[in-house]
Amino acid sequence: MCTRLVHANGPLTGDLQVPGDKSVSHRVTLMPLLADGICRAAGWLDSADTRASLAAVRALGSRADLAGDVLTVDARPAVAAMQQGGGPPLEIDCGNSGTTARLLMGLLSGWLPPDGRAVVLDGDASLRGRPMARIATPLAAMGARIAWLGEPDRLPVQVQAAPLRACDHELPVASAQLKSALLLAGLRAAGRSTVRGGGDSRDHTERLLRTMGVEVTTGPGDVLGIEGGAAVSNFDVEVPGDLSTAAFLLVAAALVPGSRVTVRQVGLGPGRTGLLEVLRRAGAVVEVTAQSVADPAREPVGDITLSRDALRPFTVGAGEVPALVDELPALAVLAAICPGVSTVTGAGELRHKESDRIALMARGLTRLGGDVTERPDGWVIKGGQPLTAGGSGGPVVLATAGDHRVAMALSLAAMVASGESTLDDDECVAVSFPNFFATLAGLVSR
Ligand code: S3P
Repeated sequence: MCTRLVHANGPLTGDLQVPGDKSVSHRVTLMPLLADGICRAAGWLDSADTRASLAAVRALGSRADLAGDVLTVDARPAVAAMQQGGGPPLEIDCGNSGTTARLLMGLLSGWLPPDGRAVVLDGDASLRGRPMARIATPLAAMGARIAWLGEPDRLPVQVQAAPLRACDHELPVASAQLKSALLLAGLRAAGRSTVRGGGDSRDHTERLLRTMGVEVTTGPGDVLGIEGGAAVSNFDVEVPGDLSTAAFLLVAAALVPGSRVTVRQVGLGPGRTGLLEVLRRAGAVVEVTAQSVADPAREPVGDITLSRDALRPFTVGAGEVPALVDELPALAVLAAICPGVSTVTGAGELRHKESDRIALMARGLTRLGGDVTERPDGWVIKGGQPLTAGGSGGPVVLATAGDHRVAMALSLAAMVASGESTLDDDECVAVSFPNFFATLAGLVSR
């Protein structure tokens, strides 16, 4: 049960930074496996999810040290460690983290030394329920040796060394995890690989590869190209603040009249900023200042200030989904507050995240008196009625399925609802934002 939910009895105000970007933090942890030197990243997100990636590179034989928020990884000893074949497969527990499992599947397919140890990738019950064939099938077409150890399309999988051929792959979904897995495999494949159709998704892998001296070309029709066998140097980077984390604070401010919140030095990469457009369409005033100079080998950053104005309903369609996919649970809460009918379509991918986010958000908002119709690929939400936990039989318990983003989104609904509600799991926020409750409480007037 959650005892840390806060109520907002007045505007939210604050000026703060949020922890490091989760997607970037995974990449700066895993991609040193490909580098020929010591890699360093400041501003690393310390969370349950990124700890799974850190444990993985250590299990593979890398030296990895975390001093404050500075991560240093020397993966050069890992190749020698994995060359010692003959032993049982190395088991890596990816926990709740889809990014760890999917990026590693691609990276290890081309990286494992011939005749060395195999690796088994596994995860928690949520991760074991998520589709993996979308990654394994195109990798197998490149020659990768990936075997399902349980059910097809699900973890656990075994990855073994194999010579890879280049790929020319059209992504069936604009998934950054799939695109990244193929680029990381393509780097170790014979020839030039091309990946199409991922142009709307986040591009952190491409940017970090460029920082590491690898040419990743972009062409018409969203084609990315990478040459197999390129030399890969080390890096020293800053991880920006996570916009997907800031999203919960910005949406929280948008829910309460008179609020004004600034979040500084947030990553504004293409494929991440769709939320800001939707907040503007919903009537919030969103200003972006102190923007960094554009550079394809660096993460763009800036400061975001949101001031709450009169709200209006909004629509989100399929084309926008990749750039705000992780923000949709929070936007569902905003829709419940905006007077009028808001719709989200083309977001069927939400059913394959850490939980079925379409179903859980519909259920949670309905428990709080929201008018939400669930669709296969989104919601129709009639907003503007006050949310209320109602009843006299104790607090309304909101189901999270242990999903961090559902827990944080429902916390925002609870923050503006009258009556008492609670979450069935509040620990799960540690997957991406361990200090979520304290940070939100710091913005709220009570
Ligand atoms: C991520 C990509 C997205 C996103 C996830 C992180 C990444 O998933 O939802 O939270 O770091 O590449 P998909 O690639 O499945 O869209």
